[in-house]
Amino acid sequence: MSRDVTHDAQEPDVISTDDHDGDIYVCRCGLSDDRPFCDGSHRATEDEAAGVTYKYENDDADGPRRAIDSFQYADD
Ligand code: FES
Repeated sequence: MSRDVTHDAQEPDVISTDDHDGDIYVCRCGLSDDRPFCDGSHRATEDEAAGVTYKYENDDADGPRRAIDSFQYADD
C-alpha cells in the first residue's frame, strides 16, 4: 500500500508556548525529516511557481523534483 498526499503550505504552523523551550514549529509542507516538526525543508518550496504541482522524489527536499501536469486517478 502507498499513499500520496498533496501539500500546498510553504511554511510551518507556529504554536506559541509559555514554557522555556519556546515556540513549536509544526511542518505543513510535508518535506520535513523530523515530522511532525519543521526542520527548515520548506525552504525548498520557495521557488515553486503558482498553479504548478511538484513531486519531490522520496519526499526529499534535497532530492530532485518534477512538475506534474495532472493526476490520473485509478477510477477515472
Ligand atoms: S514546514 Fe515543512 S519543513 Fe518547515
